[in-house]
Amino acid sequence: MKAMLLTKHGGPEALRYGDAPDPVAGPGEVVVDIHAASVNGADPKVRRGGGRYQLSQFPHILGRDFSGVVGQVGPGVTDFAVGDAVFGVLDAGNEGAYAEKLAIKAAIIAKKPDRLSHAEAAALGLISLTALTAIEDTARLKAGETILIQGGAGGVAGFAVQLAKHLGATVITTASAGNHAYVRSLGADRVIDYNAEDFTTIGPICDVVFDTVGGDVRAGCYKVLKAGGRLMWIAPAPEGFQVPRSDVATLRPDVKRDRAHLERMLALLAAGAVRPPEITHYKLADAAQAHQISEGRHLRGKLVLEVR
Ligand SMILES: NC(=O)c1ccc[n+]([C@@H]2O[C@H](COP(=O)([O-])OP(=O)(O)OC[C@H]3O[C@@H](n4cnc5c(N)ncnc54)[C@H](OP(=O)(O)O)[C@@H]3O)[C@@H](O)[C@H]2O)c1
Repeated sequence: MKAMLLTKHGGPEALRYGDAPDPVAGPGEVVVDIHAASVNGADPKVRRGGGRYQLSQFPHILGRDFSGVVGQVGPGVTDFAVGDAVFGVLDAGNEGAYAEKLAIKAAIIAKKPDRLSHAEAAALGLISLTALTAIEDTARLKAGETILIQGGAGGVAGFAVQLAKHLGATVITTASAGNHAYVRSLGADRVIDYNAEDFTTIGPICDVVFDTVGGDVRAGCYKVLKAGGRLMWIAPAPEGFQVPRSDVATLRPDVKRDRAHLERMLALLAAGAVRPPEITHYKLADAAQAHQISEGRHLRGKLVLEVR
């Protein structure tokens, strides 16, 4: 099969379009013929290497979420048949969606409804698992609470804005001016142009802050929390950062891969509570270009690689 191979840690030029062995479905697994895979913020970090993103074996195939069609069913799999359209996210620690095929445990994928294109299903995989785990399972956001979501135009944050609004929260988000109409269309009640306004001037009015931006933004997140508030993060704070308050909780969502969360997302979609993000499409062979956009950290919605 064809795949985008990471040949060594490095810049986008370390990605090479080439041949890789076909996967085989083991017990409990299916092989999926991939139609679309999405680019996640972690992908360029793995490509560059360093820290917890150090790989020991090359070539490596990046990519965590995908949508496609079951091409092979392994022993013991009863819930999928060849030809079923499916989508999902590879188990934590596994990658390989930038390819024409992958093998995956059937238990952690879901059937793709016709209402979603393959690109939309691939785009929604990891962002929906992350936002649902963060907002519903970890922060347990309630109706009537106020949440600040950092970076509302991004993948996870854009889903989180919609989810928080659906749960009945007041949603404040940060975005550059060009993305304000987009985040308002997702349901944000108040949008702060972080280039023109210091978001911390809103004061300590938030029950929950969801930090998807990290870095220097993190310290300010603590200034806008009420006593007893919850700060959830998925993007790292600067090295050596010390949590400045003991009267708030600092939480990191433990994002598992499971069918239940994918189906929760599908139910929200069917109810009209959420919609897929804006998508920019690339050919699989052009993954390096998509990485350059992802690394710039100013994309809107999701970048999706069209595989077939
Ligand atoms: N399980 C996990 O822990 C998990 C899962 C998924 C993602 N992540 C991590 O979460 C982070 C976000 O990933 P993502 O893919 O959702 O986002 P993304 O698409 O990479 O987010 C980029 C967005 O951040 C916004 N942004 C950049 N700087 C900003 C700032 N100073 N203030 C406010 N917004 C800013 C940009 O909007 P503007 O153009 O408007 O600036 C852009 O829309 C990444 O670090 C990723 O690795 C973690």
